[in-house]
Amino acid sequence: MSYVEDPGPGHGSVPPRAAFTSDAPSCSLNGTWRFRLSPSLAAAPAGIEGDGFDDSGWDELPVPSLWQLHGHGRPAYTNVPYPFPVDPPHVPSDNPTGDHRLRFDLPGGWPAGSTVLRFDGIDSCGRIWLNGTELGVTKGSRLTSEFEVGSLLRPTGNVLAVRVHQWSAASYLEDQDMWWLSGIFRAVTLLARPAGGIADYGVRADYDHTTGLGTVRVETGPDVVLDIPELGVTAHPAGEPLELPVEPWSAESPRLYDGTLSTAAESVPVRIGFRTVSIEDGLLKVNGRRLLLRGVNRHEHDPRTGRAVSRETALADVLLMKRHNINAVRTSHYPPDAAFLELCDEYGLWVIDECDLETHGFEPLGWVGNPSAEPMWAEAYLDRMRRTVERDKNRPSVILWSLGNESHTGENLARMAEWVRHRDPTRPVHYEGDHDCAYVDVHSRMYATHEEVERIGRREDDNERRRDLPFLQCEYGHAMGNGPGGLLEYRELFERYPNCQGGFIWEWIDHGLAADGHFAYGGDFGEPIHDGNFVIDGLVFPDRTPSPGLIEYAKIIEPVRIAADAAGIRVSNHYDFLTTEHLVFTWVLEDEGTAVAQGVLDIPAVHSGQSVTVPMPSLPATAGESWLTVSASSASAASWAPAGHVVGWGQLPVSAAPAAAPLPRRGPVFRTGGRLVLGTGEFDAVTGTLTTLGGHAVRGPRLDVWRATTDNDRGTFAGRPAAEQWREAGLHRMQHRVISVDADGEELVVRTRVAPPAQPFGLFTAYTWTAFEDRLRLRLEVTPDGEFPGTLPRLGLAMAVPGTLGSAEWFGGGPGEAYPDSSQAARIGRFSSSVDGLQTPYVYPQENGNRTAVRWARLTAPDGTGLRIDGEPQFDFTARRWDAAALEAARHTDDLVPGDLVHLSVDVAQHGLGTASCGPGVLPQYRLMPQKTEFTLWFRAVSGHRDR
Ligand code: GAL
Repeated sequence: MSYVEDPGPGHGSVPPRAAFTSDAPSCSLNGTWRFRLSPSLAAAPAGIEGDGFDDSGWDELPVPSLWQLHGHGRPAYTNVPYPFPVDPPHVPSDNPTGDHRLRFDLPGGWPAGSTVLRFDGIDSCGRIWLNGTELGVTKGSRLTSEFEVGSLLRPTGNVLAVRVHQWSAASYLEDQDMWWLSGIFRAVTLLARPAGGIADYGVRADYDHTTGLGTVRVETGPDVVLDIPELGVTAHPAGEPLELPVEPWSAESPRLYDGTLSTAAESVPVRIGFRTVSIEDGLLKVNGRRLLLRGVNRHEHDPRTGRAVSRETALADVLLMKRHNINAVRTSHYPPDAAFLELCDEYGLWVIDECDLETHGFEPLGWVGNPSAEPMWAEAYLDRMRRTVERDKNRPSVILWSLGNESHTGENLARMAEWVRHRDPTRPVHYEGDHDCAYVDVHSRMYATHEEVERIGRREDDNERRRDLPFLQCEYGHAMGNGPGGLLEYRELFERYPNCQGGFIWEWIDHGLAADGHFAYGGDFGEPIHDGNFVIDGLVFPDRTPSPGLIEYAKIIEPVRIAADAAGIRVSNHYDFLTTEHLVFTWVLEDEGTAVAQGVLDIPAVHSGQSVTVPMPSLPATAGESWLTVSASSASAASWAPAGHVVGWGQLPVSAAPAAAPLPRRGPVFRTGGRLVLGTGEFDAVTGTLTTLGGHAVRGPRLDVWRATTDNDRGTFAGRPAAEQWREAGLHRMQHRVISVDADGEELVVRTRVAPPAQPFGLFTAYTWTAFEDRLRLRLEVTPDGEFPGTLPRLGLAMAVPGTLGSAEWFGGGPGEAYPDSSQAARIGRFSSSVDGLQTPYVYPQENGNRTAVRWARLTAPDGTGLRIDGEPQFDFTARRWDAAALEAARHTDDLVPGDLVHLSVDVAQHGLGTASCGPGVLPQYRLMPQKTEFTLWFRAVSGHRDR
């Protein structure tokens, strides 16, 4: 059998060991290599390992890289299905094969003796030669392999040849939901290994929270000494335990002690974090405290380089996570580049380090033939786990090992778990696919509904073993497109039930690939089998711009919660360890969104899990609706955020809007030609719709219930998709029958019945217009007629105004978008944005940009003229340069072409978002059911910059 189809691990490499640097010479072989892609192994050139082989006609390729992103072949995306016949361990003969060659000289003075050549990641299988000698074969795309090359190196003119196959038997074990991309995508390094040096080491640094003592012990070779200057430790024999008072490491205070391990021949910097992970009383604890994991699943992704991700990009992720209150990461579904975990140690994130393993493509086949249960794969499974644990064993941030993802169950997984327990008893084992928890230490589920989490929380699980384990959701809150909705209710469960210890949002980043004018997803590269935009499901856009989902998540998981009522301001500390002493609490009073007073609150130190209430500051009287906003922000700079970074905030309404002034006299309705004139408005006499307001052309407003469906509306995970039910009901093509237009005296009353074709049900709508000087009041009454089959996407008015009205200002919820089940991050204030800026550029276009709880909004032209809408009391709105139908039809952001109008929706309500793209749908309290509704709005034209 060819090495490509051998189900075993690769061969020829040296045993796996920890990732570390040292003072021994090293040399990066990253850079420009020669490259040639052949359609198959058979078509690949012979003799590429030879010195004399002529590669001058080959292309150049940067290493590390994935060749499909450099014009060779094309990316392909599938979630579950294998893109090749399931015939393990065989793979297609048409197996793209990328030959890589590098000629290099050693740096001057390179020592004789042992040198290893390290590859941090080759996808999926590489055969390697140095100076004509075969070193071996590597598999396990996201795992390190090292080869001994000391005896083969020459001072100059070394030739390294690497033949990489897109497909190999290992591809059956690497069916993660992501792009299929190939190449040498992580670093290549030469490392001199001095005789008498440190081949490997394992630091065990425990912390006893009852005594405050740390114990450090290093498992390594003979004659190694440990120095930790900060702790006064010098030349301590590394293998002997050392006990001393220390500050512990946690994600919240990532205290690291810098030290060195050394022998006469080599010195290795070490960063030691003291912490002890335990499971006690059915709870996952670190340093004696129950953790609440406010996590995300992180794939490595960059829109231009795919899974070849630089340290800067890894740092950008860590900083963004920290700044959004995230405290945990699951490295879905493979060990990340080692740099990421070093950053997690340094900046503080709890990590579930997951092995590079997924065989999900067997699920549609009823798991028949699944490698997890087939002996021929046993060695490959163990090899992957060993390489994961050995490489990352010294990272204090890693608190759980995960066997992999979605590989069902079987003996091979059980053996991995057994091996881990033996090798590293200090960290529990995680694997979601072991539903009975036969060989794992924590109960993990993905996308469990709120009810299911509640049952687990109450310990009502019928499985006894599972019932007593800590529970976490390794994936939940599917962040595909607009969403997720329903996170607040999960938080409530995690806080109510101590054994429900939080979870990890699926997922951190949209895997969109940079294309001309937009981000590409599955199918955009002509793949015959693909899963479309299911790869676009992150909290940040492909370019790492935070999406509204991230802003909402940050608010939900804020470590300090501030609530205020007449009794005072209550500050609750939701950190797992920290007090609030590092925070300053400031308040600002805003009168209709304009700051009128501010100050600092004196809040005594609040301990983890505690809260305090302090009296309200004394506040001046205000003329309009006013709100007090209290924010907790950092008093001094942290490594991950400047001073003043807000970690939590709360609002209290202080005074309501003043009672409306008595209404002036109503104006009369006139009929002139085909038009009706009422105050500053003109209406079409036949349809009764507004045509101009204060000289601005207006279309509508007319009743509207449709929205461009979201990924969650179309999602199939919670039963029948809402979008399907809406479409079948015909809600996207409602017709308006004018019943009557009565223009008598001082009211214009338009009655219509709005209903879909072919259906007996509809909505009776009465629009009652009245003019009060320069203002028009619209009272809308909507009454369902007949039996509606389900929910409505939204309920409100659609109208269009001239495109020149391109600036929006409003008083209400903001600054970002909000929907009923994703609205915690919206605060009440005065905000402004261009119409273009109101759009959220979801990679796959869909409903977006709704502003909620709006008291008034203005849309104006550059000269300040325009329209103002006031709610009685509030409304939601969206404003965009295309209509809902165009938004629905678009497949990429650049399909959305601005027209001449601004399309405005002014709503009573929107249906919630839910997470039915992969998870529960919209919770009952956020469903929009048709019911009798009354709604009042005021319209008027504004001119110049006065009507503020
Ligand atoms: C899970 C899987 C993830 C991802 C997610 C849906 O089942 O573990 O890798 O596919 O669903 O986006």
